[in-house]
Amino acid sequence: MKRSASAPGKIILFGEHAVVFGEPSIATAIGMRLKVEASDAAESTFNGVRVERNATPHAYHALNLAGMNARITVSSEIPAGAGLGSSAALSVALVLAMTGGEESEVAARAYGVELAAQMRASPADTSVCTHGHSIFISGRQEEGELWSVAGKEVRWHISHLDIPQLPVVIGYTGIPAATGPLVMKVKRHHERYSIVREAIAEIGQLTLEAVRPLTGGDMVAVGELMERNQRLLSIIGVSSHDIEKLLDAVRKYSYGAKLTGAGGGGSIIALTDRPDKVVQALELRGGKAFVTSISAPGARREEL
Ligand code: PMV
Repeated sequence: MKRSASAPGKIILFGEHAVVFGEPSIATAIGMRLKVEASDAAESTFNGVRVERNATPHAYHALNLAGMNARITVSSEIPAGAGLGSSAALSVALVLAMTGGEESEVAARAYGVELAAQMRASPADTSVCTHGHSIFISGRQEEGELWSVAGKEVRWHISHLDIPQLPVVIGYTGIPAATGPLVMKVKRHHERYSIVREAIAEIGQLTLEAVRPLTGGDMVAVGELMERNQRLLSIIGVSSHDIEKLLDAVRKYSYGAKLTGAGGGGSIIALTDRPDKVVQALELRGGKAFVTSISAPGARREEL
């Protein structure tokens, strides 16, 4: 038997890292997708290579969960290691293809796969890659929430957010960054330094403030909040020279810009009505630019 599913990549608009501590975050699905095909097989392979716990952890844990062996092939438009949700999209598409289920079940299982593969994580990425559109996620219960997911220390609540098409350009630094070690670094800083604890709380506060201008399409207000968020991300220690270089290059053509995802490399996002100028500025500084839609459709089963 052969099954197929696809899931979108994502960007985090506000609240990365703070969300791991239960603070609010806003994430949106992007118009780049990853597709999985899985057929029953005697031995499990991933794009032709035998599945192993360390080399192909997502496939290993998803297969364990589904209790099956499968020949898995993956094709993806999402660059890996760029902080654009390629690993979450992979977990979600694997789970949907091999186990199916309601949206909330797929999201919870995919989060389990991510957690097993990556240790400490919030369900922000797997939730938005499942649901698509845009989501608001926080450690506080919300009216009309879609579902909630429990981690070791936090129970996260996920709600749908209606964000119109805002003109966002993504700039990849070209430096892949592993999320796990950055999340652990922030955890250590959070334990040691009050300025980091304050910055995390302030990120949560400004993320709440961002809901209204985002849903209303107020680009000036959103841009200012992005700049504030970036300064706080820099205080908690996840920005980098390459990120700041790209941010400097795009700022004069943007309402606001910030890193997106784990930082330490990875990607930035710029809110702009001059996308051509931003693309040019990014490429001049050695970045790779992606112009894509936001609030894109979520995970779905694909016809074979
Ligand atoms: O590295 P990314 O783009 O998958 O982003 C991770 C987002 C964090 O908030 C840093 C971690 C998490 O699990 O939420």
